[in-house]
Amino acid sequence: MEAVTAAWERYAAGRTPRRTHNAAGANTWLNWTQYADHGPDESLIGKVEGRHVLELGCGTGCNLAHLSTLGAQCVGIDIAPTQRKKAESRWGHLPNLSFQTAEATEFLATHPDSFDAVLSIFGPVWFTDPTMLLPLVRQSLTDGGVFVFSHKPPQLDPQPGEPLREARAVSRWDHSPREWTSLLASARFTNITADVIDPPDGKHEGTLVVRAEA
Ligand SMILES: C[S@@+](CC[C@H](N)C(=O)[O-])C[C@H]1O[C@@H](n2cnc3c(N)ncnc32)[C@H](O)[C@@H]1O
Repeated sequence: MEAVTAAWERYAAGRTPRRTHNAAGANTWLNWTQYADHGPDESLIGKVEGRHVLELGCGTGCNLAHLSTLGAQCVGIDIAPTQRKKAESRWGHLPNLSFQTAEATEFLATHPDSFDAVLSIFGPVWFTDPTMLLPLVRQSLTDGGVFVFSHKPPQLDPQPGEPLREARAVSRWDHSPREWTSLLASARFTNITADVIDPPDGKHEGTLVVRAEA
């Protein structure tokens, strides 16, 4: 786990901060995809105001900050301490928004609260064995609570020169929409949708967005 944390600390140190405003002029927004000003918004979650929301792997907290401004009570966790510092520095003034340094499975296994929504945007759902993580997410959700996550679609043809996955500190679970649907059903989720969203013009890679209910 130390090697994994160190890898995410290096990632955090190398990231440039998100813009202060998006193309629509907003200073907070929720972005499920790897492209700016693209993809669905918070409506994927359903009702936001008054909801208790957990984001796994929240990074610098920009997506969660948006939900806080819409009236949600938000908790963001991230394995990298640097991300919590950045998130608190940028969004510490917002109400009902807190950040913690924690590993996703450890947090879920030890945290007594229930959540109305759990999110992971290119976060730990992509980097954690789903047979461990999904049951923990399921048990942390209120009845009818929603679980929404996104990541890049599985790459069928690895690029030449791409390092072998086994050689990396961080593992990745590149499941297809069909595989996620089956895994989520096995973990007792219902109303599961899993789709690859088209990329914006000029880009080739879509985004896998998965939604399920407890
Ligand atoms: C690709 S970044 C995405 C950050 C953010 N969700 C966003 O969209 O900007 C992945 C984040 O997940 C965090 N992370 C990865 N594995 C984790 C784990 N097992 N538990 C908690 N956080 C994790 C990393 O530290 C990193 O901040």
